[in-house]
Amino acid sequence: MSKIVYDYIEEYIRNLIPKEDDLLKELEEYALLNNVPIIHPEVAQLLSFLIKVNKPLKILEIGTAIGYSAIVMKKAALSGRIITIDRDSDMIKLAEENIKKAGFQDSIEIIEGDALDILTNMDKDFDFIFIDAAKGQYMEFFPHCHRMLNNEGIIFADNVLFRGMVATNELLIRRKITIVKRMRKYLKFITENHDYETSILPLGDGVAISLKSGGLANE
Ligand SMILES: C[S@@+](CC[C@H](N)C(=O)[O-])C[C@H]1O[C@@H](n2cnc3c(N)ncnc32)[C@H](O)[C@@H]1O
Repeated sequence: MSKIVYDYIEEYIRNLIPKEDDLLKELEEYALLNNVPIIHPEVAQLLSFLIKVNKPLKILEIGTAIGYSAIVMKKAALSGRIITIDRDSDMIKLAEENIKKAGFQDSIEIIEGDALDILTNMDKDFDFIFIDAAKGQYMEFFPHCHRMLNNEGIIFADNVLFRGMVATNELLIRRKITIVKRMRKYLKFITENHDYETSILPLGDGVAISLKSGGLANE
């Protein structure tokens, strides 16, 4: 399990989440069988909840995989549009099929390529940005996300506690040291940033939700 909260708590919360969507269920099973890392069900629920409250019209996702979280977000966003980035062409093919099955092919656009390259050359504005790729690069993604995020927009970053390793060296695996150091740097940076108000939640693999408040945060 995630090593973020007790297994029995995670299990209990998961069992309370209604599973009504056949396509999403199918994608969860596919991801499990094929080791595709998609968001945990409780993170999907929080994403959906936040999007229903925040009502973003333009959403950016970094890390499409098979399109699961993009579909979750689009279902919550109603008239919102999503641009999602991934560098893996096999994943993109699957995501395209799944997004079509969901009927969202006209409102979810997939861009193939390295996220940093694409973000560097992107000039758009967004109300909600979901970061779920390249755990070691959140600090590099941030200036571009900040530049393109509208005021009162949200940056939702997944995996920020990375199997608990970010919070304690006792769980740290040697080969993950660089990612963990970079994630700690991101969390320190974003929580101290006066343009954002951030809440870190021990949910799934850890999420950081940052509201852009234009210099009014932490006042
Ligand atoms: C955790 S998965 C995304 C899961 C997806 N958000 C979901 O929950 O359904 C991360 C994805 O990011 C992609 N990725 C990793 N590093 C990337 C990078 N630098 N640029 C673009 N995509 C990247 C991987 O190919 C992978 O498909």
